[in-house]
Amino acid sequence: MRKKLLLGNWKMNKTPSEAKAFACASHEMVDFAVKHNIDCGVAPTFVCLATVLENRNPNLIVAAQNCNEHDHGAFTGEISIPMLKEVGVSWVILGHSERREYNGETSEKCNEKIKALLANDMTPVYCCGESLATYEAGKTKAFVEEQIKVGFAGLSPEEAKKVVIAYEPIWAIGTGKSATKETAEDTIAFIRGVLKGLFGEVSEEIRILYGGSVKPENIAAYMSEKDIDGALVGGASLEPTSFKALIENLAA
Ligand code: PGA
Repeated sequence: MRKKLLLGNWKMNKTPSEAKAFACASHEMVDFAVKHNIDCGVAPTFVCLATVLENRNPNLIVAAQNCNEHDHGAFTGEISIPMLKEVGVSWVILGHSERREYNGETSEKCNEKIKALLANDMTPVYCCGESLATYEAGKTKAFVEEQIKVGFAGLSPEEAKKVVIAYEPIWAIGTGKSATKETAEDTIAFIRGVLKGLFGEVSEEIRILYGGSVKPENIAAYMSEKDIDGALVGGASLEPTSFKALIENLAA
């Protein structure tokens, strides 16, 4: 039985004081999530990680939005896994479509980062998803299959099951145009099939989230599908009231 997961991707939003206010407001809602057997977390910017870690409900997962695959060295502007670990971060989002588009993050690079994170007992959240043009050309599955195969290359089944996947069609991110629950389930079930081919039965243990214009009003519909284990949420994760409503509707 896969545990449900709600992860808020804050992107480049919130100053440290704003992030602190959210963390301080997180206590009751995270207790509610725990009571309903739901994992929940947020991914603040690097400069907000420490304040969120200090002020949150300790059961709120705190994820970074990226990391470098090297432990240290001449990589100006980068943040390493040991640095994140020392401040108390144990999850990292990788391969978000915005990083693929604006920062040249490739599936090959994500594969290196996934291996480095797993070697440090940390949880990678690996994002995949197709553009509108790929979707309209009917090539979603071939595209996503390639992202999964490259991202998971060289992992053992034991390692693979520690990775969380977020399927986010690019055309649904921040557009208000969410995929229907059937479309999301169709692709996510396909991803699980790809994982089964690669890793066998552990594919049933790998959590796969849907992301793209998820709101308190539509999250329950996605959760009614058998292969969707939760959501990666951008805009609707920023305010405590909306985040709380997401948790409540996910639990329902
Ligand atoms: P959105 O973003 O919920 O604002 O569409 C999702 C994401 O990019 O992770």
